[in-house]
Amino acid sequence: FRGPLVDRFGRVHRDLRISLTDRCSLRCTYCMPAEGVEWLAKDSILTTDELVRVARVLAELGITEVRLTGGEPLLRRDVVEVVRRMAEIEGVDGPLDVSMTTNGLKLPQLAEPLREAGLSRVNISIDTLQPERFAALTRRDRLDDVLAGIDAARTAGFSPLKLNAVPMRGVNDDEIVDLVQFAVDNGAQMRFIEQMPLDAGHTWSRTEMVDAAEILDRLSARFTLTEIGERGSSPAQEYRIDDTATTVGVIASVTAPFCGACDRVRLTADGQVRNCLFAREESDLLPLLRGSAVAGRGEASVDTDPSGAYRAGPADDDAIADLLQRTIAGKRAGHGID
Ligand code: GTP
Ligand code: 5AD
Ligand code: SF4
Repeated sequence: FRGPLVDRFGRVHRDLRISLTDRCSLRCTYCMPAEGVEWLAKDSILTTDELVRVARVLAELGITEVRLTGGEPLLRRDVVEVVRRMAEIEGVDGPLDVSMTTNGLKLPQLAEPLREAGLSRVNISIDTLQPERFAALTRRDRLDDVLAGIDAARTAGFSPLKLNAVPMRGVNDDEIVDLVQFAVDNGAQMRFIEQMPLDAGHTWSRTEMVDAAEILDRLSARFTLTEIGERGSSPAQEYRIDDTATTVGVIASVTAPFCGACDRVRLTADGQVRNCLFAREESDLLPLLRGSAVAGRGEASVDTDPSGAYRAGPADDDAIADLLQRTIAGKRAGHGID
């Protein structure tokens, strides 16, 4: 055991989020411009061996959970293999718990193989149930594929099945009740996420944002909700919906940040370690994984090894663990976006 992975505020890190690819099959307006973004160079994307190596070192540092994200994680060709190998890694209290957040489009083909490979849970994004709105919001006319994906995930036995929506004023904020009803009918948990300033177009506005209070107001018009305990390190505050076996979650990342309990570390598809979703710096693992032949993103990175010792070739696990520990040590108290 090399851990724990702990920061200056005593937060022990147990949750790793890995972006498997920066590419996506949708173009949600709050996430990407219509033309997409400048995609990462293919040869800078971590190989599956590299991903597994970093995850294994992190497991030795105390990480117990891995969530696979993107872009859209199912666009990675060997995603089933990635899941299988991640789920085989031994953590401090058993094999890593491997879950995924996806737009669902490829779940009709992949839900079953992913389940067999050891994926424990999936969260699926669905912001609207209206086909024209879906097409406008994601710039792709594919609501039916998402619905088929949700079906496939349920059939494959993923439970609990969580559905994520970002309510936006004048776009889908009149569907909050409909989305919950849809989730109830599908044995899923609906979660509403306060929109965060992560959009490429910089159109986010604090005053326009549909916040947790407003979400709860709209829900209360139709459902009787009972708050369930503490939210812990999960970002969602949960509420039981009377007369159903279901709960609804509200992720108030902006108005009630969970930074104080944050136990997350992120790895980008090209080997950058980020200690926060809003981190201004990243630490570049590529030079450590590959030696000096391949430079990472360079200027955006914090100094990985001032002595330049790694330049001789790929570094050992100690050097990787050391960089991970230093990156977490430098984590800020909170995101400060509110
Ligand atoms: P569970 O373990 O199932 O609760 O997953 P999750 O909610 O952590 O994962 P998911 O990928 O579904 O994320 C849902 C939302 O949580 C995201 O859209 C973000 O709004 C928010 N979120 C996830 N990670 C972070 C984080 O590190 N910081 C902040 N501020 N928000 C986050
Ligand atoms: N604010 C809040 N949530 C977002 N997501 C993507 N961009 C944002 C944003 N700017 C959500 C997606 C998905 C989850 C992983 O993150 O809808 O459900
Ligand atoms: Fe793709 Fe998710 Fe971004 Fe939508 S929010 S474009 S599904 S990565």
